[in-house]
Amino acid sequence: MNVHEQLDALESTLKKALKNANTKADLQDVKAKYLGKKAELSTMMRHMKDLPAEERPAFGQKINQAKQRFAALIETRRHEIETASLNARLKEERVDVTLPAPNYRTGRVHVMNQIVESIEDLFIGMGYLVKEGPEIESDLMNFEKLNLPKDHPARDMQDTFYISDDTLLRTHTSPVQIRTMLDYGGKKPVKIICPGKVYRRDDDDATHSHQFMQIEGLVVDTNTTMSDLKGTLLEVAKAMFGEDRKIRLRPSYFPFTEPSVEVDVTCSNCDGVGCSVCKQTGYIEILGAGMVHNNVLKASGYDPEQYQGFAFGMGVERIAMLKYGIEDIRHFYTNDLRFNKQF
Ligand code: PHE
Repeated sequence: MNVHEQLDALESTLKKALKNANTKADLQDVKAKYLGKKAELSTMMRHMKDLPAEERPAFGQKINQAKQRFAALIETRRHEIETASLNARLKEERVDVTLPAPNYRTGRVHVMNQIVESIEDLFIGMGYLVKEGPEIESDLMNFEKLNLPKDHPARDMQDTFYISDDTLLRTHTSPVQIRTMLDYGGKKPVKIICPGKVYRRDDDDATHSHQFMQIEGLVVDTNTTMSDLKGTLLEVAKAMFGEDRKIRLRPSYFPFTEPSVEVDVTCSNCDGVGCSVCKQTGYIEILGAGMVHNNVLKASGYDPEQYQGFAFGMGVERIAMLKYGIEDIRHFYTNDLRFNKQF
């Protein structure tokens, strides 16, 4: 066998060996066998010295060329093995992103609290503090200091759960306002809203609930007017029912405010034209308000000669019912998930 034949034979056994090599470890073995120190090529190289001097350069060149060819063949195979193993992994680890995901039951903020939070945000943005107080109240805080002495006929407006002669479940959050004014000692301006649960001795039906939620507000300062009240309430109406809303004040009566008003907002269903939602009037009543009665200011330590204030109160359920077209107030408290999940 001449050198040529010997190298050709070697190359074809290398090719076979490479075909059978399927892992990097196999390839390592092949490489050692064909290019390593004990490889046949290396042995041939060592025998070069036995050749006549003039044949040596050509011989050396052939061996070197063979070495390069062998290395290239091994490299090509390495590339094939790596590609194959990568493809296998991609296939095996493939994630089917179109599979339907499991239906996680996530909780959410109750629609009542969503409304309370959004009204709080609105008022905090106008510089108000949020104040809370006890749900079990004294007759003094809930009624007497609000210009409603024990025999006052207007007490009938708020049918009350009495716990004892002097203790009751608060019928509104106005006592929180009294508590705050007393806290401030008649000295500094007041600018607060009071959200919370309130209770009235009503028979529950689609529009009445013995427990419901209110947000009341109070501003007391030395230069407070009815137009401040109106501007504030317009902001509330816009935030709750949309930028295009207008409001209207109608004279009314509350013992703790004078003058007192009932506030209507233009119906967002018909834009004030008249429809079944607004009973053809174009307006929907959303809250009560007024200028704080002198007796209330005095009872909480504020001098009516120096201070004036405005107050307002709204029922959160009513706002939610109008906003979302909910027809039965009991939905808020029966916790049917089909209802709760809609908000
Ligand atoms: N406290 C009144 C109520 O619960 C609401 C209200 C507050 C009215 C402030 C006027 C001014 O009925």
